[in-house]
Amino acid sequence: MTGNDAVAAQVPAALEVRDVTKSYPGGVVALDDVSLRIARGDAVAIVGASGSGKSTLLHIMGTLDAPTRGQVLLNGRSTGELADRRLAALRSHHLGFVFQHFHLSERLNATDNVASGLLYNGVPRHRRRAMAQAALERVGLAARATNFPHQLSGGERQRVAIARAVAHGPLVILADEPTGALDSRTGSSVLELLLELNESGTTLVIITHDGGVAGRLPARVEIADGRILGAEGLRT
Ligand SMILES: Nc1ncnc2c1ncn2[C@@H]1O[C@H](COP(=O)(O)OP(=O)(O)OP(=O)(O)O)[C@@H](O)[C@H]1O
Ligand SMILES: [Mg+2]
Repeated sequence: MTGNDAVAAQVPAALEVRDVTKSYPGGVVALDDVSLRIARGDAVAIVGASGSGKSTLLHIMGTLDAPTRGQVLLNGRSTGELADRRLAALRSHHLGFVFQHFHLSERLNATDNVASGLLYNGVPRHRRRAMAQAALERVGLAARATNFPHQLSGGERQRVAIARAVAHGPLVILADEPTGALDSRTGSSVLELLLELNESGTTLVIITHDGGVAGRLPARVEIADGRILGAEGLRT
């Protein structure tokens, strides 16, 4: 082991699941003994057919849902034993979420949609607006800061959602079909934006059933029937 390897070995994975199983009432086993380690700086696509367990895996990796068995570690910290409030704090500190249908509030303009996400990070009110504006600038939407969602295109709405996900500087962005509701050109530019954020250091996990999207990420994990079939391109 070289000196550099020794240093690398001490850096915890951004996100790790160990021997995770998720069963739903009624006997559906959505995840069956899944282990996956996502290092800092990885940009990974999780691909698989509809019903293969992708969203279940994203929810469990994102600590939005608990596994039936197994462990989830966030930045090296085991999450299973944490009280709800501690877990919520850890989650909002380290993670940013992006969903297919944006999940913006129709009653808030772009800036306030982004700023409202910062509430959960304990950012004082007077700093939220400036941080939201900086995030909108980062996604190329400074000129739309006062538009409400109905005054934005689908691609712009997703950019607002991405600004909200990155405004607090998370370690990892978890995105579930982020281009799924967009036409291919708009989807492509949203994917480009996510890849730029990864270039500047944010770990990226994108769930997709689209092989074209997956092919543009440096790493891929394939899932079928709740099991990992193979992984390529992950940093170790
Ligand atoms: N809350 C739930 N209760 C019971 N079964 C569920 C629940 N959520 C998901 N499932 C089942 O778990 C399996 C995996 O679902 P999941 O949503 O993770 O699939 P997916 O890969 O994201 O599919 P898609 O590409 O269609 O979004 C499916 O068989 C689904 O029916
Ligand atoms: Mg899904």
